Amino acid sequence: MNNRIAGYLAGIALATMLPIAARAQTAPATARAWSDTSLSSDARAALVVKAMTLDEKIAMLHGTFGSSVRKANPADKRVGAGHVPGVPRLGITDLYETDASLGIANGGSMRPGDVATALPSSLATAASFDPAIAYAGGAMIGAEARAKGFNVLLAGGVNLTRDPWNGRNFEYLGEDVLLSGVLAGESIRGVQSNGIVSTIKHLALNAQESGRYVLDARMPEAALRESDLLAFQIAIERGRPGSVMCGYNKVNGDWDCENDHLLNQVLKRDWGFKGWVMSDWGAVHSTAKAANAGLDQQSGQELDKAIYFGAPLKAAVEAGTVSRARLDDMVARILRTMFAHGVIDTPSPVVPQPIDYAAHGLIAQKAAEAGIVLLKNDRDLLPAARTAKRIVVIGGHADVGVLSGGGSSQVAAVAGTPIRLPMPNGPANLGFIKVTYHGSSPLAAIKARVPDAVVTYLDGKDVAAAADAARAADLVFVFATQWRTEAIDLATLALPDGQDALIETVAAANPRTAVVLETGGAVLMPWLSKVGAVIEAWYPGERGGEAIARVLFGEVDATGRLPLTFPASDRQMPRPDIPGLDKVNEAAARQASKPPTVGATTIDISGGVESFPVDYVEGADAGYRWYSRTEAKPLFPFGYGLSYTRFAYSDLTVTGGIAPRVSFTVTNGGRRAGSDAPQVYASVAGADGVSVQRLVGFERVTLRSGESRRVSVSLDLRLLARYDVTKPGWRIPPGAVPIMVGHNVETPTLNGMLDRLPHRVK
Ligand code: BGC
Repeated sequence: MNNRIAGYLAGIALATMLPIAARAQTAPATARAWSDTSLSSDARAALVVKAMTLDEKIAMLHGTFGSSVRKANPADKRVGAGHVPGVPRLGITDLYETDASLGIANGGSMRPGDVATALPSSLATAASFDPAIAYAGGAMIGAEARAKGFNVLLAGGVNLTRDPWNGRNFEYLGEDVLLSGVLAGESIRGVQSNGIVSTIKHLALNAQESGRYVLDARMPEAALRESDLLAFQIAIERGRPGSVMCGYNKVNGDWDCENDHLLNQVLKRDWGFKGWVMSDWGAVHSTAKAANAGLDQQSGQELDKAIYFGAPLKAAVEAGTVSRARLDDMVARILRTMFAHGVIDTPSPVVPQPIDYAAHGLIAQKAAEAGIVLLKNDRDLLPAARTAKRIVVIGGHADVGVLSGGGSSQVAAVAGTPIRLPMPNGPANLGFIKVTYHGSSPLAAIKARVPDAVVTYLDGKDVAAAADAARAADLVFVFATQWRTEAIDLATLALPDGQDALIETVAAANPRTAVVLETGGAVLMPWLSKVGAVIEAWYPGERGGEAIARVLFGEVDATGRLPLTFPASDRQMPRPDIPGLDKVNEAAARQASKPPTVGATTIDISGGVESFPVDYVEGADAGYRWYSRTEAKPLFPFGYGLSYTRFAYSDLTVTGGIAPRVSFTVTNGGRRAGSDAPQVYASVAGADGVSVQRLVGFERVTLRSGESRRVSVSLDLRLLARYDVTKPGWRIPPGAVPIMVGHNVETPTLNGMLDRLPHRVK
């Protein structure tokens, strides 16, 4: 008997036992007017709300860890990040929530057999500059979420990269508003094509991990609207996520999850968001304030100091500090979203369904291939010649697998988990986070492509031995890794564990050295001038070994473009040092000296860190816009990436007016097929009159040798505008706007002017 039927029967049984007056309110299952699918989701939700008791409403507004599902019923396999009870007597299913954007995360448990397809990191998807790749990945992980019985996927991470050292950058889509917004929207659309709900997260300015539970991110409203909020706005318009997850931090003095400005005014009023706002796990700090500020549901309540949306919310409603209308709105938002996405009419299966992991693995592999960025390729060292007789592969555990990022997004891959190590110097309370490799061996994939060559592997610990082996080889691949995780930022962008020295020494022994980077974002490359080639493979997911080998040997073109700037030094960015790190470290030292509290019912996830401000002085000019403003020369600019073929741009047409358009021709002038991502930038003056480039259009094109294609992109006027808080609204400053089409933000290839633009923008 499934839940829904059980609920139906329980409803009838209960109704027959109740006195007449109460019975009138219980809406017998046979008279479930909200089952009428011809009604709108809002109308259906309103009917359910009317039939619910106060306690049922309250119960729908706070949720536990997903492990509560298994505790209640050991046979139930749906153990995700969160669970919220439904109303069985009314046929309203529970919410079964699981992380995240990179696959069905199960990393915390690593239960035998509990595996899922691991996509590459979101940064790799962003590097594809391809909305179709983002959609396909979303659709695939959404299908797995549904097959495993979940109906909410905690996906849609879209925080902009403001600091290249942020531990969680790999989970997001880089530093650009348009690229992040479009790709997050497409991924969410894909997830939700499975009749489940996706979140978008973490609203807003959740841009650093150190002290994330307490920090106060500060930025003037106009700058916020033009950057991080616009990325959310574009993604929400495109993807229509059912739920928004508010973040841990404060924005301009108020916690994200009780921030009236962010939740009520921006999200619900200005953007017309009709879904529900759920908190991040442990991000709630109050009852009436949060509810009245727009938070609709408390998630992962075990991590908060109180179950604010349980008994205290009931008391607040009874005392009138939270109105009944607001309570009903909170519940209605959840229900209308469940109806709108089919969560109630076609519930996710209770018993896990079979999954075509082979087909899904191919989707992950395609995403990895599309996102690999060729950063350097002297004298066409790559694609690697299949005639090479002796190849040496060094480091990065390339013999067994590829690295993944840590934290709540961790997937235990179908491909297996050959390495799972405690994090180096990690705090005890983050013991669940492990340095994890997916079982996709680049070495095996390389060997398969050169069956007649002698391919040897060295782990790189003995640098002299690695150099000796390299000296005798025709070709050397050094695999270098940089692990990142949720909850911790990187103290430096330098490669850890002596890998710089290893690369330097190996390249000195043999300049025919290609470096393969598996990193969660930007990394420094002091050895760059010494090596022959570099590819950035990010965290390439569970088919990463195969994807890397296919790019190295040119079976596919190198098509990725950088979705974030690679700095030339650790000091080039707006905040070279991690704000508040001293406070985080002091608190950690204090905690370490305290005996553990036995029998505590709540956990202080802040770790006793005092709140501190983070001033985002660059404002709207995150990433490449900052480099252009400060005239700093990065190691590699945003949008950069080489190809195995050559693309040329010509015949620019720029059409101004209220629906501006930029068209041009892309030609593959090389000898092989390939894919390119031509980028359109506009030069927009900031509040201080200084103009910086903004990405206003991009398109991924795949062309045969000699083929040309006309590309035409329509521009979102908001990207040409500035946000005026006094009016309030979007306004385009007077005058024509310079437009450039280029291979990256630093190389204008075609130039034009956009004129007759409207002043006011909707
Ligand atoms: C993360 C969220 C995640 C949630 C549930 C939090 O720590 O910030 O991204 O969805 O946990 O696992």
